[in-house]
Amino acid sequence: ELLRELMSLFKTKPIEADADRGLIRTLGAGDLILLGIGAIIGAGIFASLGTAAAGEVGPNGEVIRAGAGPALVLSFVLLGVVCGLCALCYAELAAMIPQAGSAYAYTYATLGELLAWIIGWALVLEYAVGNVAVAVAWSGYFTAMLSGWGIDLPGWLTHGYYQVTMSGNPEIAALIDTAPVLAGIPVLLNLPAFLITAFVTIVLLMGVRESARANAIMVAIKLLVLALFVIVGAMHIDPDNYKPFAPNGWRGIHQGAAIVFFAYIGFDAISTAAEETRNPRRNLPLGILGGLGVCTLIYVIVGVVATGIVPYEDLAGADPLARALSLAGLPTASWIVAAGAVVSMTAVLLVFQYGQTRIFFGMAKDGLLPRWATKVHPKRHIPHVSTILIGVLVGLASLVAEENSIYDLVNIGTLAAFFLVCIGVLVLRVRDPHRERPFRIPFIWLLAPAGALACLFVIRGLPSRTWGYFGAWMAIGLLIYFSYGYRHSVLRTGRQRDVQDWS
Ligand code: ALA
Repeated sequence: ELLRELMSLFKTKPIEADADRGLIRTLGAGDLILLGIGAIIGAGIFASLGTAAAGEVGPNGEVIRAGAGPALVLSFVLLGVVCGLCALCYAELAAMIPQAGSAYAYTYATLGELLAWIIGWALVLEYAVGNVAVAVAWSGYFTAMLSGWGIDLPGWLTHGYYQVTMSGNPEIAALIDTAPVLAGIPVLLNLPAFLITAFVTIVLLMGVRESARANAIMVAIKLLVLALFVIVGAMHIDPDNYKPFAPNGWRGIHQGAAIVFFAYIGFDAISTAAEETRNPRRNLPLGILGGLGVCTLIYVIVGVVATGIVPYEDLAGADPLARALSLAGLPTASWIVAAGAVVSMTAVLLVFQYGQTRIFFGMAKDGLLPRWATKVHPKRHIPHVSTILIGVLVGLASLVAEENSIYDLVNIGTLAAFFLVCIGVLVLRVRDPHRERPFRIPFIWLLAPAGALACLFVIRGLPSRTWGYFGAWMAIGLLIYFSYGYRHSVLRTGRQRDVQDWS
């Protein structure tokens, strides 16, 4: 009896027989590359790059991670390869299991319900918690942009409590003395981060959908500001800043890669367009790898310039690219880059919050989350309850959050999901070898295990405190699963859930 119960946790969800959802195959490799750039470039390159290059010191002077220094470019190359391997695995599964929720759906079909829940819960880290970090980065650039206009908000209104108390930067740590005290607690709130989350939530509630046009405009803005940064910055490079090239050796490159991995998150979004891709056998790998390749190239160039303009230690902080330019005596360029970063990161926030509601939707449809996540507004066709709930939670968290520990937590969750995707693709080759695969990874028995190991390797570069956060997150997730999903699972209980408004 117990054994049967245990086995049921690993029951896999059958892959729906070619559900024709009426999507038309129109996208080519070039479109996929644009889609990828739209989802990928954001807080990672604009903000987490700073900590990756400079390293991080805690409030008591303890070294939390070693900086990569100018060798950060090697971290970017390394990550390009790691993500390329995972991307190929995504592409095979995406083309054969075209369902919303990507890694969650793939795991459900390959490794069973318990692991699927774990991945769904880890994807909350990628999407919702990821947005906490992006909102904080947004706030850093927004504050820099306002400064450019001569408006300086008080530090206690632009820095969250943990941002201040976990900082090893004496200037930021000192903000605690300027904060008003309420009921014995210093009031340190990242108000811009909260307000942008509220704004994004309202926009989503109005029913604004992602459109190819809006994405193209965003991509243009991102590329233009990064091009401006590179061109203006390149004229102010001091070669002395490249010495030493790798101040903390391999350890710095590895630990830098572990945090700046955040800059690569989002390429999995390309795979969700599998159903709409023309000739997926050719265009899917070309688009995914092309998008990754282009982003890696951009990151390497930005990294070379950023670490060339100022000594790498000066890149620490929430707005490293704007700061580097202003330290180099280029206030106008700094201001323009800050404004461009603000726009780019708003787009990332929209895409990820939208994505989170869809993942919740899929999980609730399977009975693993309560019905509210499937509630769709009758007129606007938006999952409004989960949109509001996620907005409120992300907004409240971003009021007080510290960004580096959040990047770490998001990265470990995302890497765990990527790891299981690499395993899942192998499992499905064994279990269902004859199923039609519009795209097959070449050398799968080499490349998929290499991808899985590469994910573990990047995880090892994260500070040890991350394991504590991740463990706590997963413990909460398992508690929720066994008190809710376990009893309501459509697959295990056989009780269908009627989702009338499912659009
Ligand atoms: N890759 C996305 C960003 O950097 C999440 O903002």
